Amino acid sequence: MNAPRPVSVPAPLGLLAELTHRCPLKCPYCSNPMELDRRSVELDTETWKRVFTEAAALGVLHTHLSGGEPTARRDIVELTRHCAEVGIYSNLITSGVGVSQDLLTRLVDAGLDHVQLSIQGADGAVNDHVAGYRGAYEKKREVGRWVVDAGLPLTLNAVIHRGNIHQVGDLVGLAVAMGAKRLEVAHTQYYGWAYANRAALMPAKPDVDRAIAIVEAARTRLEGTLVIDMVIPDYYAKYPKACSGGWGRRSINVAPSGKALPCHAAETIPHLEFWNVREHSLRDIWLFSPAFTAYRGTDWMPDLCRTCERAEIDWGGCRCQALALAGDAAATDPACHKSPLHHKIVALAEAEAVTATPPPYQYREMTARAREPVE
Ligand code: SF4
Ligand code: FES
Repeated sequence: MNAPRPVSVPAPLGLLAELTHRCPLKCPYCSNPMELDRRSVELDTETWKRVFTEAAALGVLHTHLSGGEPTARRDIVELTRHCAEVGIYSNLITSGVGVSQDLLTRLVDAGLDHVQLSIQGADGAVNDHVAGYRGAYEKKREVGRWVVDAGLPLTLNAVIHRGNIHQVGDLVGLAVAMGAKRLEVAHTQYYGWAYANRAALMPAKPDVDRAIAIVEAARTRLEGTLVIDMVIPDYYAKYPKACSGGWGRRSINVAPSGKALPCHAAETIPHLEFWNVREHSLRDIWLFSPAFTAYRGTDWMPDLCRTCERAEIDWGGCRCQALALAGDAAATDPACHKSPLHHKIVALAEAEAVTATPPPYQYREMTARAREPVE
């Protein structure tokens, strides 16, 4: 029998199910790890179904069926149906590439609740260059039409960076034209592939300010038509974001191989021990696994954060960013203006953003050993 859940640990609200790392696109800011999981190590259908059942029992309300490209899994319809059967709201996070109208119809029939479609630019030239895939833009427009025609709510997700920040206004127009209910204007978060590509992706501060002003004006103009969420770039912020809603507080990520992670970049913290859903229940992982308990709450914080009025608002920011920038996952996130390193990362960002010619993208790719075809 398991020990009861300590009262201070809330039930998770969301599960990010990274069904596969396989994907036809090559976005240079991909949140997947640099070392991608191969198809041969992916969880099988029955294990994923058990995970969704356990998630529902744990109190999870919604799951993001994600990847990579989740529709590369042959069992995507079966998994979606299972989420509906156990009472979890399902959101398909897709690039659209590889999605047929027949597949979408079967997903809708299986109980899919929502589609989040990525968009890399407001026209074919920018979109397809960033995605590293010719024809992706037209395909996304087509899939967006099918989603709206099927009566499902559509969210467009646009990751913003130097290569498309001039199109923020056009992306708002595109979202309206496509009938989306929501647009996420998510400035790149610099982990994993995006960290490797930071010098190519970092926008200049005046461009960021302009984009923020465009979004704020559009929010007023489009109230009742389109909801616009915005994540501003950490490097130019005053306070860090509450990464993943606070470590081990709101969500669980399960990687294709079954490793349960507190956030998508957690594996970059080398000393953490991750439990796998093949060997442990989701409940035990949430409550007791070393990775989830490592930075939960405020006890682990440096004095600067523990004594700060925002300690339980942003939870000290992002552990992965603290490791990447400060060399210590338990440091105050240098995105915070109170961090002694803050001025250095602002200077770094500004220096990268003004280079006349950014370096070429290092596109996301499976290593030769891990590369396998998308079905
Ligand atoms: Fe957040 Fe720590 Fe900065 Fe306070 S000092 S705002 S808790 S990161
Ligand atoms: Fe890991 Fe922010 S990405 S804590």
